[in-house]
Amino acid sequence: MPDHHHRFQQLLCKRKEEGILRSLNPRSEGIDFYSNDYLGFAGNKQLQDILLQTVISNPQLLSGSTGSRLISGNTAIANDTELYIAEKHRFQAALLFPSGYNANLALFSTLPGRHDTIIVDEQIHRSVHDACRMSNARKLKFRHNDPEDLDRILKKQDGHCYIAIESLYSMEGDFAPVEEIAELAEQYGANLIIDEAHAFGVFGYGLVEKYQLQDKVCAAVMTYGKALGAHGAAVLSNHLIRSYLINFASAFIYTTSAQDIQWMSIRTGYDFLEDHPESAKKLHENITIFRNQNLKSPSSATSPVQAIVIADNQKLKTIQNTLSDNGFLTYAVYSPTVKEGTERLRICLHSFNTEEEIVRLAEIIKQII
Ligand SMILES: Cc1ncc(COP(=O)(O)O)c(C=O)c1O
Repeated sequence: MPDHHHRFQQLLCKRKEEGILRSLNPRSEGIDFYSNDYLGFAGNKQLQDILLQTVISNPQLLSGSTGSRLISGNTAIANDTELYIAEKHRFQAALLFPSGYNANLALFSTLPGRHDTIIVDEQIHRSVHDACRMSNARKLKFRHNDPEDLDRILKKQDGHCYIAIESLYSMEGDFAPVEEIAELAEQYGANLIIDEAHAFGVFGYGLVEKYQLQDKVCAAVMTYGKALGAHGAAVLSNHLIRSYLINFASAFIYTTSAQDIQWMSIRTGYDFLEDHPESAKKLHENITIFRNQNLKSPSSATSPVQAIVIADNQKLKTIQNTLSDNGFLTYAVYSPTVKEGTERLRICLHSFNTEEEIVRLAEIIKQII
């Protein structure tokens, strides 16, 4: 074995000893309390049927795009979908990406320049941190959901600032004070970018739309692999920023465009979301049922993600395994994904979970913690 491969082995062994070694397992059968399919769209037969009919009438949708969108990979479907999305969210322009990870990578590695500062919520998604590493800008963190701390940091900056937040955080299951942060951004002339990955679809078109912040943000990111049950993302902004990304974002330029079927699934997902408001309504009823079980959680009362902090890896594993033995699929989140001492059981609620399932899930957890 080459010498430096020993390091890989050592680090993997350490993870194994700590009980946090990751591995890929086949998707388990069971009651889903762990996926991001909040509205059940990924498994919705009616939606599948609409997509199937669309493909039957246009099999070309399944073909590869043949190149970057700047060469041979741009299609009328990609362009039309962007116009459609921009209009829905009441932004000037939208730019599609094959995933939310790519969208964040493109945004934060491209917009902030050498003398700029990116101020991120300490719980911001990994994709933003990775983008910051690709950027020449300086990165600073502010305390989670703490506008006062953000204000303190903004006060000290003399250059141009970007602020990165999520509207709903997926590890804590809590909302950002988006209006307050938007005001601060305005006050300091900073560029606010809001990632709506977990709010989109669960709360209409997201919190930017809900609070009418379109003119107060530099960009908003919608991802389609969660509530929409599809895959991909859109950066919503204005014509200038769209054009800047098309010209300077490596993550957009140097990659083959996704297939048209991906853009079409997103487009179809929007229509389906509009035609089926009962899915989100049912989800919110289920969130209330879960909250009524009185499990201690730092998450917001209306969040589809509910975290239960169990800062004992062994106990956390036992709870997850016991739930799994009883047919309940949940996700245990260990450090380094979350800070050491804040390890947690992450419960995702869905429109398709039943009251009986939610009550039973809570009972099992209560018996162990
Ligand atoms: C807040 C947030 N942003 C971005 C992403 C990445 O999106 P995608 O899964 O589409 O790459 C995720 C998904 O984990 C996320 O939770």
